[in-house]
Amino acid sequence: MKLSRWFRKQAQPKAGPAVHDGVCPRHIAIIMDGNGRWAKRRLLPRVAGHRQGVETVRSTVRQCLELGVEHLTLFAFSSENWRRPVEEVTLLMQLFMRALEQEVGKLSENQIRLRIVGDCSRFAPELQTLIANAEELTRNNTRLTLHVCANYGGRWDIMQAVNRLVDAHPEHAGEYKEHDLEPFLSFADVPEPDLFIRTGGEERISNFLLWQLAYTELYFTPTLWPDFDQSAFVEAIRSFQKRQRRFGQTGDQIETAQRIARANPSPESAGNITDK
Ligand code: IPE
Ligand code: IPE
Ligand code: MG
Repeated sequence: MKLSRWFRKQAQPKAGPAVHDGVCPRHIAIIMDGNGRWAKRRLLPRVAGHRQGVETVRSTVRQCLELGVEHLTLFAFSSENWRRPVEEVTLLMQLFMRALEQEVGKLSENQIRLRIVGDCSRFAPELQTLIANAEELTRNNTRLTLHVCANYGGRWDIMQAVNRLVDAHPEHAGEYKEHDLEPFLSFADVPEPDLFIRTGGEERISNFLLWQLAYTELYFTPTLWPDFDQSAFVEAIRSFQKRQRRFGQTGDQIETAQRIARANPSPESAGNITDK
């Protein structure tokens, strides 16, 4: 997409208190971290933090709807989280099942499409059935797509995509380009995240969206996920709105493209950027 057209698209004001003057991210990706520490500080079992974390998911989804965000991606369970004590893994799976059972109706009412991203084959058959039903029930919803990454790892995603690409086009081995791989990745046809948020104070990616975060604005906050309320969310959006995204170009080029976009001339005069 041409840069000036991208800016025009991004600059369209969306409803909501946090973005009336600024751009709204189309896609937000979140590592919801800090549930265990939240519980520990209250001398509660870790699962109490995960339960409270589900409340934060609800409020974050609501805020994304209000802002007009198109895609929200949440890291719920990483491929490395199987290394946790078996009791915690079991409780997390139960919580996941309960949330699917309880929330799917509300998701539909709010025109939200649910996608579970990751290797679901390791989940119990009942959970796999719940996932398939929830995805089927919400598949035609268009207001917001909620991508929940479960048994997901960025490296897993790249490797499953490579394997499928090689299967599909063995004749091009040795000549693959980035755009050949993209249709096989889990987030094919989804715009790359504009804003990445990690709560809980750690400043690392922990095998989240390794391919897709190439040009995403990163935001780290010490706030623990169960405490990540509306004002914390707004603060993250405000931080995003102050950034100048350059995609390899210079600041001057970006300012010129913005001026052109504001003056609304032909989009042909600006450079390309990668966006779907
Ligand atoms: C994130 O919170 C939730 C999952 C990984 C499932 P944690 O459980 O990692 O919380 P901390 O990091 O131990 O506080
Ligand atoms: C990342 O958090 C995974 C999820 C939030 C699901 P972790 O708590 O597992 O990450 P590390 O182990 O601190 O890197
Ligand atoms: Mg953690």
